[in-house]
Amino acid sequence: MEDWSARQYLKFEDERTRPPRDLLAQVPLQKPRLVVDLGCGPGNSTELLVERFPQSEVIGLDSSPDMLRKARERLPKCKFMQDDIATWIPDPRTDLIFGNAVMQWLPDHPAIMRRLLQAMPAGGVLAIQMPDNTREPALMFQREVGEGGPWRDHPEIKAAPREDLPSPEAYYDLLKPVCSAIDIWHIIYNHVMASQEAITEWFKGSSLQPFLSPLDASAREKFLAAYTKKIIDAYKPRFDGKVLLRFPRLFIIAVR
Ligand SMILES: C[S@@+](CC[C@H](N)C(=O)[O-])C[C@H]1O[C@@H](n2cnc3c(N)ncnc32)[C@H](O)[C@@H]1O
Repeated sequence: MEDWSARQYLKFEDERTRPPRDLLAQVPLQKPRLVVDLGCGPGNSTELLVERFPQSEVIGLDSSPDMLRKARERLPKCKFMQDDIATWIPDPRTDLIFGNAVMQWLPDHPAIMRRLLQAMPAGGVLAIQMPDNTREPALMFQREVGEGGPWRDHPEIKAAPREDLPSPEAYYDLLKPVCSAIDIWHIIYNHVMASQEAITEWFKGSSLQPFLSPLDASAREKFLAAYTKKIIDAYKPRFDGKVLLRFPRLFIIAVR
């Protein structure tokens, strides 16, 4: 991933922190020795982990210096490290690996999840949440605008759309052989957005980034205008002018 804009991401902090709360609520641990927040971002998910496990060592890991700087400002007592999840190896004391809204960015994430589980001690928990929204209009429009404009042949734009997540059955077959218990579920949120344009703002902090980062300022504006036009056509305001952003997410808790 290119560097993420922490400020853009945090514009919708309340909504973005709801899924990690829902994930953490199902983690069956009392006093994990070491907790690692994979893809900790600006530290919002790390903060939840520190609150829930005040006696544990909690470490945030991210590849983005911008995100890590924000996370360190937010939680000065916490340890943060820059690393790539694809190659990171957990310490044998890691009782909880928490990955909220990050694994979907790693092309081979199911194999990485299996490798991480295998490296964990018995009873250790791998807790993962990923957006499962590639079939939602807001994500389909990103692909359509990417394929429809003058930027269509740019290799980074061609590679920008996210693949669909594998099915729950595929995760089960891959992970269950290396864990004692597994829980897989979906939640569909309906986030209340202030306007249709707010949907563009939301995705500028996440899945639009790979489309926008290869473009210069003028092309970026054109991309966003074409995208917002499609959003306005598809996401109609409610009686009070607000807009609902339907957002399905997949949750997995696997116990080693
Ligand atoms: C959508 S944010 C999630 C932030 C936070 N965990 C939360 O719950 O809101 C995803 C984060 O994953 C990080 N990331 C993406 N790919 C990564 C990788 N291969 N290794 C480490 N961090 C990665 C990004 O830099 C970004 O901060």
